[in-house]
Amino acid sequence: MSAGLELRDLSVSYSGRPALRGVSLDIAPGRITALVGPSGCGKSSLLRSLNRLSDLLPGCSVSGSVRLEGAEILGAGVDVVALRRRVGLIFQKPNPFPLSIRRNLTFPLREHGLRDRAELDERVEQVLRDVGLWDEVADRLDSPARRLSGGQQQRLCLARALARRPEVLLLDEPCSALDPRSSAVVEELIASLRERYTVVIVTHNLAQARRIADDVAVFWVEGGAGTLIEQGTAQQVFEQPQHELTRSYVQGLSG
Ligand SMILES: Nc1ncnc2c1ncn2[C@@H]1O[C@H](COP(=O)(O)OP(=O)(O)O)[C@@H](O)[C@H]1O
Ligand SMILES: [Mg+2]
Repeated sequence: MSAGLELRDLSVSYSGRPALRGVSLDIAPGRITALVGPSGCGKSSLLRSLNRLSDLLPGCSVSGSVRLEGAEILGAGVDVVALRRRVGLIFQKPNPFPLSIRRNLTFPLREHGLRDRAELDERVEQVLRDVGLWDEVADRLDSPARRLSGGQQQRLCLARALARRPEVLLLDEPCSALDPRSSAVVEELIASLRERYTVVIVTHNLAQARRIADDVAVFWVEGGAGTLIEQGTAQQVFEQPQHELTRSYVQGLSG
């Protein structure tokens, strides 16, 4: 199941200092949207406001509107725990719990009320297969997750997110801490999530955005804060960029 997001005039500031200003963007369900732009232009800030992780950052304030399937998710009265179940976030550095591979996954599954041992085993296998890890770890499910390679840990983190049956997956530079081979495996995995999930990926890697994104949003720092300068399908943004900055950025000339 995937869900769309509508951002309207979204702004983020830290202790009164604007970091991201006035972003309006539609994120289509079941598609992969890449957020690109030089570092410091507010991409992570945007991502964190979409599952209200921003609530946990001291001094961070978010204004504007974000609708998930038409329902406002900013503001008081939103069930933030339920929201984070629907909208999962994956970070640059894989962060498995300091537990076994199995327990990294049974943890979120138990949250869903699963208790039956056989059913848990079955779901663990299923999510590990979904991320292509099953054959690599089936014989050591009870060993520490942190002994896995970086790429395996990142796939485990994706499996952990998928176990919660999210509708939207937010990925903040999910491949940039990985070696090229693991990065390619994770990238392929992300591409395979299209249609089943709405994927929003921040990437520094324009070649990656070109390979996997359906839609692209380009951010830039203007007047001291990040802002959205161009949005469109990947083809539009890469083949016929409208903005001068986008043109030079996609040609690798600036940013
Ligand atoms: N937790 C934070 N506290 C204070 N300032 C922050 C915090 N996170 C980000 N910023 C600032 O907000 C701006 C945008 O940062 P960020 O969203 O991380 O951009 P990007 O992900 O595009 O590199 C930067 O100026 C950064 O220093
Ligand atoms: Mg960032």
